[in-house]
Parts: sequence; structure tokens; C-alpha cells
Amino acid sequence: MIGIDMTGRVTLITGAGGGIGGGIADVFAKAGARVYVADLEMENAKAKAGQLRAEGLQAEAVGLDVTQNEEIYALVDRMVKENGKIDHLINCAGISYNKPYMESTDDEFRSILEVNLISVHNCCQAVLRQMIPRKEGKIVNILSASSRMGSDFFAHYSSSKFGLLGLTQSIGLAAARHNINVNGICPGLIETGLGEKQGGGLIQQMSRYSGKSQDVLRENLRKSIPLRRFQSGEDIGYMALFLCSDLAKNITCQAINVCGGMRMN
Ligand SMILES: NC(=O)c1ccc[n+]([C@@H]2O[C@H](COP(=O)([O-])OP(=O)(O)OC[C@H]3O[C@@H](n4cnc5c(N)ncnc54)[C@H](O)[C@@H]3O)[C@@H](O)[C@H]2O)c1
Repeated sequence: MIGIDMTGRVTLITGAGGGIGGGIADVFAKAGARVYVADLEMENAKAKAGQLRAEGLQAEAVGLDVTQNEEIYALVDRMVKENGKIDHLINCAGISYNKPYMESTDDEFRSILEVNLISVHNCCQAVLRQMIPRKEGKIVNILSASSRMGSDFFAHYSSSKFGLLGLTQSIGLAAARHNINVNGICPGLIETGLGEKQGGGLIQQMSRYSGKSQDVLRENLRKSIPLRRFQSGEDIGYMALFLCSDLAKNITCQAINVCGGMRMN
């Protein structure tokens, strides 16, 4: 039987207090990994880790601001002390501003590049310092359909995710000679808290700017997906699990769409 068993594996997921990161945490914990549920919002990290532990799974809640290098390095040191290693890093923390390009500000551009791009570089470097001597490890970056197609409505987000695609390919090349795989996943559409703290979620903001109801917009978006359904955090988790497994040992530097057929590039 072919299956994926992550017993004995140690997984760090950033943004795991959120919608997609939470789904990824569910999948890795159910596959047997010890999951570090890291998020800026400690209460959400605690809730997710508590839910997993209540199911008899292994999870630790960690407060982490990915824009703070000293916090990243302290967490990596702690994980290595507790487990002797880190097997998987899933970079899922992210923010978005949803508004027309001409309303986008300098500060928004800087903060989104800081969270969605530069912090991923910092997390990867910190973890790779531990993975490279062992010549083993997997990194998965959560990209977006907007890593390959621009948008008037979230130009700064799209710019950060295009950058993250280039970073994923580049780190993948640097890590390949050490037997470490680095890949990205491009989710399609999942209704989560993304953008809420930055002024409003995608559908809410589209409704505000277009005057159409959220229900109409949601239905239009759903119909734009060939499989006619939104994705879930678990859908992204299953792809991440595969990419972190030995079944995917010859896959690196790739960006894989999980979007119900919405994108084909
Ligand atoms: N929801 C979608 O349709 C969609 C589509 C494509 C890609 N994505 C990407 O998926 C990832 C997860 O997004 P989501 O939809 O689950 O949104 P979400 O808002 O539910 O989750 C994002 C999480 O990141 C955390 N976070 C933000 N800034 C942080 C920081 N500085 N340090 C640590 N944690 C921080 C938030 O607290 C939140 O829990 C993001 O990278 C996003 O760009 C989402």
C-alpha cells in the first residue's frame, strides 16, 4: 500500500492560526507529524494546537512574527533543541490589501513585501542552516494564482506573490545540491480572514467597490472555477503533504496549482 506517514517528522507552519495554515496543520498532524503552529495571533495558534491535541495529535502553539528575525531564529533553535531537527517548513503567513491600484500606498507596498516575501527568505535561511548539514528537508511556500497573473484589485499582493515565485525557484536551486526540495503551491480561492485586518476581505471589498452583493460576487467567483467549488485549507494541506513526502523526492523548484482548474499555467 502506498501512503504518507509523517510519524517522527517535525513540521513548522507559519500563519497556521489562519484558514489555509490551519488546514495544512490538520493534515500534517493527522499524518503523524509533530506540528509547530506558529502565528502572529497567539490566541488563534493556541486554538488550533488545542484542537489538534484534543484529537490526540501532536501540536505546539507558538507566537511568531515572521518579520522579526530574532523570533524566527529563537523558534528554530527551540525546535532543534526539542526534536534534534526540523523536517518541513511551510511558509503560509501572509497579508493582502484589496483595493484598486490607484488607491494603493507606499506603506502598504512595503508592509506586504515585508510579510509575504522578505520574511519567507528569512524563515528559509534560518531553517536551511539546520537542514543543510543533515542533507535532508522540505520547504513549501504558499504562493497564489496571483503569482502568475496581475490584478488591478490587489497589485501589491500580486507583486509580492510574483516575487515569492522567483524566490521559491531560486532557493530551490540553492538547496537542491543539499538534497533539499523547495516548492510552491498556488491556491485558487478560499474564503478566509485574508485581508480582514488590512481593510477587508476580498469578497467584502469587491462588494464595496462594485456595489454588487457579496452573495452575487461569491456565486460569480464560484462559477469562474471549472470544478465549480472553492478550495479548502485541507486541499492545500494534501498537496503540501505530498510535496514533503518521499513520493515527491524528484519534484523541486515547482509551483503547483490547486485551484479547481481556474489556472492552467
Ligand atoms: N485565501 C485565499 O484564497 C488564498 C489564495 C491564494 C493564496 N493564499 C495565501 O495563503 C496564505 C494563508 O492565507 P489565508 O487565506 O489562510 O489567510 P488568513 O488571514 O486566514 O491566514 C494568514 C495568517 O497569517 C498570519 N500572519 C499575518 N502576518 C503575520 C506575521 N507577520 N507573522 C506571523 N503570522 C502572520 C495571520 O495572523 C493569519 O493567521 C497567505 O500567504 C495567502 O497569501 C490565500
